Amino acid sequence: MTVSRPAVLIDCDPGIDDCLALVYLAGLHHAGEIELVGVTTTAGNVEAFQTAANARWILDLCSLADVPVAPGQPGPLKVDLTTTPETHGPTGLGYATAPETAAAAVTAAGDRDWRQMWVEALEAHADLQLIVTGPVTNLAAFEETHSPAAAQFGAISIMGGAVNYRGNTTPTAEWNFWVDPHAAAQHFHAAAANVLTTLCSLEVTEQFLITPQRLEEIMEVLGEHPVTQILPEALRFYFEFHKAQGEGYQAQIHDLLTCMIALGKVDYAATETTMDVEAQSPLLRGTSVADLRDHWGRADNACLVTSADIEAAHQEFARGCALLASH
Ligand code: BDR
Ligand code: CA
Repeated sequence: MTVSRPAVLIDCDPGIDDCLALVYLAGLHHAGEIELVGVTTTAGNVEAFQTAANARWILDLCSLADVPVAPGQPGPLKVDLTTTPETHGPTGLGYATAPETAAAAVTAAGDRDWRQMWVEALEAHADLQLIVTGPVTNLAAFEETHSPAAAQFGAISIMGGAVNYRGNTTPTAEWNFWVDPHAAAQHFHAAAANVLTTLCSLEVTEQFLITPQRLEEIMEVLGEHPVTQILPEALRFYFEFHKAQGEGYQAQIHDLLTCMIALGKVDYAATETTMDVEAQSPLLRGTSVADLRDHWGRADNACLVTSADIEAAHQEFARGCALLASH
């Protein structure tokens, strides 16, 4: 019997935790557990072109030069772009910097735009899984012309929101939804009822913490793999940022946990609900709300993750790194 491997498209903004997500997906791809069909990037942690150069560098180090990377929309749908060099470093990978060759490779591949990549991937793969680990800009823009996107993707998973919870960017908003609140709102309004968006929000993802000890264990698993050029320098910056935020010398790895949940690689609990995101009010920009008691009387549009097996996620990351190292 032939078991088909899920085809995965990731839309991300590397980004230190996005970087770890790509490393993990590369391991699964080499092991034949998924087919990573492409990477598109958003403007968020840094600009969209820089996030693409970062993704290109990471994939190249993971021997995935054949997986295409394309920068997405240059900025949010309706508000000006804000980036966060204080969180992810001046070019998005902490103290690590992508070489000029990575940016040159993205420029050289520039005749294939991100929408074309999505359309071609959808045509080629009936159950394509989309994982979004940056602002929802590209997905919302895609839904404006290919609506409803959810009807075409086999599954959509998003890292975003601080649902009925304190934020990490404002008292009530999480970064990805705050950067492009209109995109997040528009996606949940456009969402097709046949495919609920799996939403991995801050209250769950912030529990997945990599400490210096955990990093050391991962480095041992990776041995001499080229991607070890990036990880210690990227994570040192992320540890320092979290310490300055009062979170201790460790780092929350939101996007990696989101990928594991999206692919069903760790146990998690979730509830079906109606999500909405505030885009109009300056005070509450990017605030995400789940209507857990059906006050609005609207159809469910999300499967909100409420908890995940964090220890299993650490083991799963080590497994993904071992797959990468043994390739
Ligand atoms: C999210 O914001 C970004 O800085 C991270 O990469 C993650 O996707 C967490 O709020
Ligand atoms: Ca991200």
